[in-house]
Amino acid sequence: MTTASYLLNCWYASAWSDELDAGPVGRVLLDQHVALFRDNTGKAYAVGGRCPHRFASLAQGKVAEDGSLQCPYHGLRFSGDGRCVHNPHDQGHIPDVSLPTWPVRERHGLAWVWFGDAVQADPALVPDFSFMDESKWEIIRGVIHGAGNYQLFTDNILDLSHAEYIHSGLSAPAFIDGQRQYRSDGTAVWCHIEHPNDYVSDVMAATFDVVGRRQNFWTDIRWTPPANMLLIPYLNEPGGTRETAKAAPSLHLMTPETAGSTFYFWAVGRETRLNDPEFTEQMRSGFIHAFENEDKPMIAQQQAMMGGKDFWDLEPLVLKGDTGAIMARRKLLQLLREEQTAAGD
Ligand code: FES
Ligand SMILES: [Fe+2]
Repeated sequence: MTTASYLLNCWYASAWSDELDAGPVGRVLLDQHVALFRDNTGKAYAVGGRCPHRFASLAQGKVAEDGSLQCPYHGLRFSGDGRCVHNPHDQGHIPDVSLPTWPVRERHGLAWVWFGDAVQADPALVPDFSFMDESKWEIIRGVIHGAGNYQLFTDNILDLSHAEYIHSGLSAPAFIDGQRQYRSDGTAVWCHIEHPNDYVSDVMAATFDVVGRRQNFWTDIRWTPPANMLLIPYLNEPGGTRETAKAAPSLHLMTPETAGSTFYFWAVGRETRLNDPEFTEQMRSGFIHAFENEDKPMIAQQQAMMGGKDFWDLEPLVLKGDTGAIMARRKLLQLLREEQTAAGD
């Protein structure tokens, strides 16, 4: 398997839905130029992003009044099913050309794209992040673009012990000293961290409004292939029950741009300090700082240090705390092999 192999028969987060509300979005996803846009009824489409005429970026164009995507260079138009539907030249003759297209489903505020066999694109397979749809959570979110293979971004979430070393605001004894358990469930991998009666990180303490108070802390992380994670930290007062715990659910979705670069869609919800816009902005800038200035340069550096070699060929040292990350990598490798075997590669 080369590092440029991707699992194809699954949904990839490709844009926040409101990114598409603002106009066409052009991204390279899984090494392919993709233009995402809404037609004039609001339906979202994903088509090849490179104009077949002189290779302009179609996403730099606009949605015409007929709902098709108009190339910014010479005005050819393409409908969401990829067909050329308008040629302002050649007396209107429509060339026999069409763009690649991929199924799109919008769920949980995201546009998900299926790059595999379109017949298998079952909307029920969009991973469940239903906290995004529940009004009880106040949610901040964003997307980060960074150098590094998407599986390095996955490792970063599944092994939170790095927080102690690179995230001053997120470091906490739980990630090193906490009791960690791992299990697989179908194609999912679950990591569980538990650490009672201790101080939590500064960011967590502020988010849950428990600054200076010891807490029972536990976190569940669910990984599903290829690189989608639900991460839910819980806190309660020592002596409290699980039922009285407060949570801060988050999603971390890694979509490969290329083998060496990734789009990282993130969102964090809270049920404390609601309707506090100043705190919301503090929290947003805190998370963006951690992702952009702390995780991202580290992952870019790891990618560079790997020098184009395969992860397994480098014989990585495996520590107990990265068991979940290793389980996820092995599961993904197994699924890739199964998919490629089924495709007759
Ligand atoms: S490059 Fe698109 S119409 Fe010419
Ligand atoms: Fe991190």
